[in-house]
Amino acid sequence: MLCQSQYAVITFGGIMWRALFAILVIYSCHVEGGSFRRSGGRQEPQLNLDEYPSYEDIMKYLKDLARLNRNRIHLRDGGRSYENRKLQMAVISNGDGRPNKRAIFIDAALHAREWLCPITALYVIQQLVVNYQENSYLLDDYDWVVLPLANPDGYEYSRNVDDYWRNTRSPNNEHCYGTDLNRNFNYSWIMESSDLKDPCSENFAGSGPFSEPETRTVRDIMLELVESNRGLMYLSLHSANRSIYYPWRDYGERTNNKAEHEEIAKHAADRIYWSTGTRMSTMPGYFYHGMVGGISLDYAFKVGFPVAFIFEMSGKDQNGVEHKFFPPSSAIRGLVQESWLGIRSLAEKAIEKYPPSRPLWPRAKPKSKFWNWNW
Ligand SMILES: *[C@@H]1O[C@H](CO)[C@@H](O)[C@H](O)[C@H]1NC(C)=O
Ligand SMILES: *[C@@H]1O[C@H](CO)[C@@H](O)[C@H](O)[C@H]1NC(C)=O
Repeated sequence: MLCQSQYAVITFGGIMWRALFAILVIYSCHVEGGSFRRSGGRQEPQLNLDEYPSYEDIMKYLKDLARLNRNRIHLRDGGRSYENRKLQMAVISNGDGRPNKRAIFIDAALHAREWLCPITALYVIQQLVVNYQENSYLLDDYDWVVLPLANPDGYEYSRNVDDYWRNTRSPNNEHCYGTDLNRNFNYSWIMESSDLKDPCSENFAGSGPFSEPETRTVRDIMLELVESNRGLMYLSLHSANRSIYYPWRDYGERTNNKAEHEEIAKHAADRIYWSTGTRMSTMPGYFYHGMVGGISLDYAFKVGFPVAFIFEMSGKDQNGVEHKFFPPSSAIRGLVQESWLGIRSLAEKAIEKYPPSRPLWPRAKPKSKFWNWNW
């Protein structure tokens, strides 16, 4: 670590200079928060947890990290958004070269204004790649695929023009723009709410299922993982409801492995509570704002991920003040780290439940009024 190597230098020089230098080092180590490290003498790119990164910052961080850690992370081009931004994915492994491991798939910021999500996804990537020693158990038999910015057009629009913007930026008619990506999946599409068909609503589900390039990218990676029998867990990052929920959202029926979902979610919620005191609710999606169709969670479960979660991060700062989508810079680090603890805990429990010896198939048969059991 950079911080440790600088301490060595402090032992030289006069007492005054030593004291002064020590203060500087302590300050800079504090500010860097341990995210600025060396590995094999190379300087890892810094992930700044004190501000929300732009699209450009995110692309640059991924590129720099991948250039320095070729054995553990490679970038995969997931195509382009409506406005031609890159849907960049990070594929993370432990570098042992063993192909076809099971995989955990994470996407972040399907909803543009949920600013904590992309930076948390980057932190997940950093923890798995740079802080590998501590987290290697999460990669022994599992790869991670992370799409840190699923809606780059909406995110930039939210950052630069209208902070409450939630959707994409594709035109719906001459006045209204944007599809809610988390209503655009082909599962109970436009079910249960008239809003979903209104091109001027912020819940507009799109002109058809998978009308948006961003949802098609998420779909394609899901299908690829499931079809190669690798899809273990799907996790979609959202903010700021402080909850972890699981299928179904479209209808109030239980899945056959509801108890397993609840156990995994509860494990993560407990870890967070013990560590930071934040209480996360755990529940089937249906109990969260009621029924709605077209969401990525249900689609992932339907196509064959045996476990799937939406992780709604907390938007509360250290003093308990609720900031929802836009916590101030000073609160970003704590919230990101808290969420990483939750994500890591979800993964470790899912891995414990689905060791390589347990087949992913046949899994609990999905039960839903709207889904015919014919794959
Ligand atoms: C949506 O799913 C239905 C079956 O449930 C299928 O017939 C249809 O082709 C799908 N549409 C798209 C765009 O994927
Ligand atoms: C989360 O959503 C539920 C359901 O709408 C609501 O009752 C609860 O107050 C929300 N919690 C937060 C922290 O926003």
